[in-house]
Amino acid sequence: MSAQLLDGKSLSEKIIAGIQSQVTKRDVAGLAIPALAVILVGSDPASSIYVRNKRNACIKAGVRSISYDLPATTTQADLLALIDELNREVGVHGILVQMPLPAQIDPETVIERIHPDKDVDGFHPYNIGRLAVRMPTLRSCTPYGVMRLLALAHDDLKGLNAVVVGSSNHVGRPMGLELLLAGCTVTTCHRFTKNLAEFVGQADILVVAVGRAELVKGAWIKPGATVIDVGINRLDDGSLCGDVEFAPAAERAAWITPVPGGVGPMTVAMLLENTLQAAQAADKRMA
Ligand code: GUN
Repeated sequence: MSAQLLDGKSLSEKIIAGIQSQVTKRDVAGLAIPALAVILVGSDPASSIYVRNKRNACIKAGVRSISYDLPATTTQADLLALIDELNREVGVHGILVQMPLPAQIDPETVIERIHPDKDVDGFHPYNIGRLAVRMPTLRSCTPYGVMRLLALAHDDLKGLNAVVVGSSNHVGRPMGLELLLAGCTVTTCHRFTKNLAEFVGQADILVVAVGRAELVKGAWIKPGATVIDVGINRLDDGSLCGDVEFAPAAERAAWITPVPGGVGPMTVAMLLENTLQAAQAADKRMA
């Protein structure tokens, strides 16, 4: 392997320690402790693990975590009523509803119901729109975490060819907007893209977020590229792998994220940073 690793685990730990010291300063100054409501509907095993990680990270950062574990049979009306109550609660700065939701609940309706000021996932169309017009407020956690990883490898991204593989609302689309804001020439590839390998081969910066094990072959990578693998897939033997074939990609790339330990921990760190930012914005509104 010749590529250097972009270590998201160690960067996220530094960011969380920084948040913890800012939370302590707020406490000493008599300001509110940032508080995050984390709502889990049902008991999907992967979601339960993600939620536990988020709640543990809150403890490390000194952020107050308020847990709502609702049954899988929860109605959409009941979930929306809880969100309305949390929107009104001044002591709650962030609201996170873990996705995916059970089939009887429409995720877009839920996302739009969370007040944009408390949308610490950065999923609300208002917050995505702010990013699109170069006025970012609360930014989608995974793409923002990727930008922080890219800053380890690049002083400046202006003029670089960035290729995003995957066009989901939560990762691919805001990822393209972040890279555009940073001055990259951005291409988004998706399920209808013809000749994916050709686009991937042009990328100075490659971000892959499709959720398909090793879809992107190492031999496609441009020599010297920076490769960010957002995917985390479980294989039949129980092991984890990304959306990029790691070993051959690491032979060609200059920088690459490991899976796990790359993007995943950065998503959680950005969630906590957004919660602190939401608390700071609430102070300003009340001043
Ligand atoms: N499910 C998988 N990733 C996420 C995330 O970042 N936020 C929420 N709310 N649900 C998720």
